[in-house]
Amino acid sequence: MGEVDKYEILQDLMRRRGFAWGSFEIYGGSRGFYDYGPLGAAIKRKIERKVREAFQREGFFELETPDITPEKVFIASGHVEKFVDPLVECQKCGARFRADHIVEEALGIDTEGMSAEHLTQLIREHNIRCPECGGELGEVWYFNLMFETKIGPYGDQKGYLRPETAQGIFVNFKRLNAFARNRLPFGVFQIGKAYRNEISPRQGMLRLREFTQAEAEIFFNPKETEHPHFDEVKDEVLRLYPIEHQLKDLGMIELTAEDAVEKGYIMNTFFAYYMVMVKRTLLDIGIPEDKIRFRQQLPEERAHYSRDTWDAEIHSERFGWVECVGIANRGNYDLSKHMKMSGADLTVLIHYDEPRTVKHLKVSLNMKRVGPKLKKDAKRINELIQGWEEEKKHELVELLERGGNAIIEGHELEKDDFIIKEVEEKVTGEKIVPHVLEPSFGIDRPFYLLLENSLVVDEDRTYLKIKKDMAPIEVAVLPLVAKEPLKGMAYDILRTLQKVGFIAVYDEKDTVGRRYLRYDEIGTPYCVTIDNQTPEDNTVTIRDRDTREQIRVGIEELPGKLRELIFEE
Ligand code: GAP
Repeated sequence: MGEVDKYEILQDLMRRRGFAWGSFEIYGGSRGFYDYGPLGAAIKRKIERKVREAFQREGFFELETPDITPEKVFIASGHVEKFVDPLVECQKCGARFRADHIVEEALGIDTEGMSAEHLTQLIREHNIRCPECGGELGEVWYFNLMFETKIGPYGDQKGYLRPETAQGIFVNFKRLNAFARNRLPFGVFQIGKAYRNEISPRQGMLRLREFTQAEAEIFFNPKETEHPHFDEVKDEVLRLYPIEHQLKDLGMIELTAEDAVEKGYIMNTFFAYYMVMVKRTLLDIGIPEDKIRFRQQLPEERAHYSRDTWDAEIHSERFGWVECVGIANRGNYDLSKHMKMSGADLTVLIHYDEPRTVKHLKVSLNMKRVGPKLKKDAKRINELIQGWEEEKKHELVELLERGGNAIIEGHELEKDDFIIKEVEEKVTGEKIVPHVLEPSFGIDRPFYLLLENSLVVDEDRTYLKIKKDMAPIEVAVLPLVAKEPLKGMAYDILRTLQKVGFIAVYDEKDTVGRRYLRYDEIGTPYCVTIDNQTPEDNTVTIRDRDTREQIRVGIEELPGKLRELIFEE
């Protein structure tokens, strides 16, 4: 069976059986938007639940903040200025393209950081044409990917739909830090919608304009980058594709988390710990281990806030390796920016275990000497230099030691004009702006890739071999024939299973063989059949989706047995 066929089979299955399809179908559709049908929504919720549980096991707190966000937040975060792509329009057919992609493809050069003017110039110089109709291309301009909106009836307050859920966490840092009782590290997560006006949203569900993210922001002290529980994960093997290996075409490597840190591929155990957490979560969702790898982003690919990013990628037969989770070290970029823009104090007071003695410089003016020279300015300048940051005081001392004179507020001052002393002081702590490590899961991409990786196309049936606890319908209850007493008994069993928490349905239509195939196709791991023996001895059969084998169990033990089969295997 060819790959294209499998893709088409999946697309058809997703639409026909109620998993997912392009939105606004009856009006011709709108690119970059997808609807989840009844079965798709059930799987999506299960993926979100697995990620939520993974975050909760780490002790992170969940938060929910608005999708619509005032402009100021994204001016501070850098998204207004930097969340942009260069665009160019064909003068003949009006099609629009990513200018950087077109130039890179035509000339084989890196265009990272190039201005719109420079890109336009290259297009002109090399006579690069529109890929669709060969027409001439116009001027390049930068296009912001955020959806703009207006808040309130006067339209005077500009807002944006959030392009990531993370900022809702950063702007709440002060409250969250108080909630965490001022103790680093702590993590906060949010699961919700994000919006990006992607320029060419092709590739089905992989590039959406409205999608779901599950992001955790873990705030930590940059001086403490050893994860206290690293020992529990250090032997997990990670398949890595580091920067160096990409540049030199060296392929992927498999290393334990511990070796990856020791050999310098991953910056520290704090980062490696969360890579393992991400891998385990993807496995828990049901992504096969050999379809997961971590690729380190090249410096030019990184988002404006990132110091280092590893992407967890999942392999697709159709699309190759697809980025599904970004794990970024955001440093203190976001908190510092919000601190500056809002004026709020977003620092954490770090208490030392024991008070420390720190040496620092005390610098003041020798008033007797400078008084006559500076006159009324003397007092003010004296206060000014006493308030200088330590670093600035050191620079002054260095300058004077070298025999130079300092110019302060237009006055030239020499060494003897200052009184400089080194003093010792006991301090009990310091204020820092915490750094952030961010595992950011997309939900829609793993959803699609879970389905793609679960689809089995056999000679005699097509079925979804989805991890059993991820199935949208967990149990189908089927009377062999739609007659009493089988019907009534089947309903009783259905109600019992639903009451104890299974997602179960009743189905009496068609032959039982056809019903089995119907449930195989949507991934239902077990069908329970009520047959002619059931009224005699209170037993039913459980049929396995993958092996198609059946076992007979008593009705009493059915819920326990199914629980074991679906959730504990
Ligand atoms: N806060 C960090 C951040 O937003 P990102 O790598 O841009 O990082 C994280 O996004 C994840 O969100 C991606 O790994 C991907 O799964 C998902 N994602 C991003 N853009 C998407 C899009 N246009 N359509 C579907 N999912 C998307």
